[in-house]
Parts: sequence; structure tokens; C-alpha cells
Amino acid sequence: MAAIVTVILITVSCTSLASALSVNYYENTCPQVESIVAGAVHKATLNDKTVPAALLRMHFHDCFIRGCDASVLVESKGKNKAEKDGPANISLHAFYVIDNAKKALEAVCPGVVSCADILALAARDAITLSGGPTWDVPKGRKDGKISKASETRQLPAPTFNISQLQQSFSQRGLSLEDLVALSGGHTLGFAHCSSFQNRIHSFSPKHDIDPSVNPSFASSLKRICPSHNTVKNAGAPLDSSSTLFDNAYYKLLLQGKSIFSSDQALLTHPHTKALVSKFAYSQKEFEMAFVKSMIKMSSITNGGQEVRLNCKFVR
Ligand code: HEM
Ligand SMILES: *[C@@H]1O[C@H](CO)[C@@H](O)[C@H](O)[C@H]1NC(C)=O
Ligand SMILES: *[C@@H]1O[C@H](CO)[C@@H](O)[C@H](O)[C@H]1NC(C)=O
Repeated sequence: MAAIVTVILITVSCTSLASALSVNYYENTCPQVESIVAGAVHKATLNDKTVPAALLRMHFHDCFIRGCDASVLVESKGKNKAEKDGPANISLHAFYVIDNAKKALEAVCPGVVSCADILALAARDAITLSGGPTWDVPKGRKDGKISKASETRQLPAPTFNISQLQQSFSQRGLSLEDLVALSGGHTLGFAHCSSFQNRIHSFSPKHDIDPSVNPSFASSLKRICPSHNTVKNAGAPLDSSSTLFDNAYYKLLLQGKSIFSSDQALLTHPHTKALVSKFAYSQKEFEMAFVKSMIKMSSITNGGQEVRLNCKFVR
């Protein structure tokens, strides 16, 4: 009887140990992890101001497909087309930052730090470097062995309405509050014309332009993105201060100056609209909510299996 109880206890504790993340996870096995990742993000950002936005979006895509398991980092190989080469990969870049951090970590603590943890840390560092808050990142994620281009269809689309967004987030255990706070990630970065073309050309049978877009803002977007766009990589910044982590995104949203239909959709439900107003009014409230929701999103794990040696390839 005692033996059976012991076996059950061990089984239970192992299962929870395998899935529970902790802030001190690498305390004994790789105490340099935080400074090495922060160093790599800092160095890259000095050379390229678009790096923080890229790392944040990369982490979001990672966590929304198979949990935060570094599936977004895997290269296509043989017949397997990886997430990287799937639809919605537009604008994913700066993978080299993760690779540089991984190389530096392999030199001091080989085979210890997962690529999924590196990406979670890098996303936090990206926010902090952009003038945003900082927080302790729970660690202990494992890297997954599967990455499929077709699964990027599970990501929310910029044309989504509020019920589609709510569904996409709730399937991952995220609430409407998480949706509004994390959409604030659009305070950083850039969108290509193709991601918001629907709002400024042939929007509906009645309206060429989405009537919820501020008219002068719509005109400026149309100038950047004419219907027969010939400029490669044309697009618009996601807010007026797109390398600064601030609450301008929410202020502009209330003025009809958001880029995606999915941003605008946050105003179509009383609960989410109230949160947008709260975050537009208070940078502090936004930061507190953002940190809470980032920790929640970055703790979605579906049980990766390994620590990769090279973030591009499963072992
Ligand atoms: C709510 C659902 C979301 C939708 C529909 C969405 C959609 C998009 C789209 C279409 C782009 C532009 C891609 C391009 O044209 O280059 C983009 C960019 C971006 N998104 Fe989101 N997103 C969502 C949520 C999030 C979340 C949760 C985060 C992070 C917390 C995030 C962070 C970013 C960042 C930082 C960029 C700029 C990337 C860069 O400049 O490299 N997004 N998003
Ligand atoms: C996105 O996918 C296309 C098509 O498979 C590919 O050519 C491109 O290199 C990918 N972009 C990134 C950032 O991996
Ligand atoms: C959102 O879009 C879906 C799919 O097109 C539709 O079924 C649903 O009624 C829409 N919801 C709202 C609130 O507009």
C-alpha cells in the first residue's frame, strides 16, 4: 500500500515538475542565461531598431502554435515545410538574434537552455529595451519536435472580428483582458500593405474605405498603399512611435487610427472598449496588464520534449 502511494506521489510530482515553469529554473545549471540573452538582444538592437518588434511577434507566433516550444524557429527540411515558411510569416525576421544567444549559451552551459526559453527572455528584453516594463520570466520550457507551415493558419488574422479574436484567445486560455493588453504589442513595429489592404480598397459593396477608419488617416494609408502597389515592402508603422513601448496604440485606436480591422474590433464590445479606454488613459495600467498577460501567454506549454542544440533543427 505504502509503495503504491509512493509511486503515485512520484508520478504526480514528476508530471507537475515537467510542466511547471519557474523563475529560478537555470539558477544552478546556467546562471548566465539572463545576461547572455539580454546582451544578444541589446547588441542586435543597436544595429537594427526593428529587432525588438520582430522578437515580440516571433514569441507570440511561437506561443499560439503548439504552445511556446520554439516551433517558429525550425527550418523547413526535406518534405517538411516549417512554420517559418507558412502563410502569416510575413515580417518575421531577426532569427539570428536567437541563434547568437544560443551559440553563446552552448559555449558556457551546453545542452541546457531551451530555444523556447531564449525566445521568451528575448521578447521580455525587447520590451524593456524599448522603454517598457521589465519582469521575471518563468523558465523551463522544452523545445518541440514538430513545426508545420499549415498550422500557421491557426493564428488570428488581421481581418478577424471581436468574436473570432475572442475564440482564438480563449482556445489558448486567454481572456478578453489578455486580448486587449496583448494587442498593445502593436505599439511596436510595422505592417505591410497586404495586412490592411482590405480596409482601404473595396472594403464593402457600399464603402471603398472602412468607415471606422479616420478619413485623413485612411488617405495617408492609401497614399502609401495604392491599389496597384509596386513598391516592395511598402507599409505603415503600427503606431506613431513604433520603436517605443508606450500606450499611443490605444490613444490612436480611439481616434480610428489603428492599422488592422482586428485592432479596430476591440472597440466593438463594451468590455474590450472599456479596457482600451483604460489603457489609453493610463500607461501604468497598460504596463501592469501587459506584463500579466505576457506571462500568461508565454506560459502556454504543450509539453515540448527536448532542448535543441541548434534552434533551427530538432534533434
Ligand atoms: C490579436 C490578434 C493579432 C493579430 C490579428 C495580429 C496581426 C498582425 C499582423 C497582420 C502584423 C503585420 C505583419 C506584416 O504585415 O508585416 C502584425 C505585426 C506585429 N504584431 Fe500582431 N497580431 C495580433 C496580436 C499580436 C500580439 C498578441 C502581439 C505580441 C504581444 C503582437 C505583436 C506584433 C508586433 C510586435 C508586430 C510588428 C512586427 C514587426 O514589425 O516586425 N501581435 N500583427
Ligand atoms: C516565408 O515563406 C516564404 C515562402 O515559403 C519564404 O520564401 C520566406 O523565406 C519565408 N520568410 C521567412 C521570414 O522565413
Ligand atoms: C464574426 O465573423 C464570423 C465569421 O465571418 C461571423 O459568423 C460572426 O457573426 C461575426 N461576429 C461579429 C460580432 O461580427
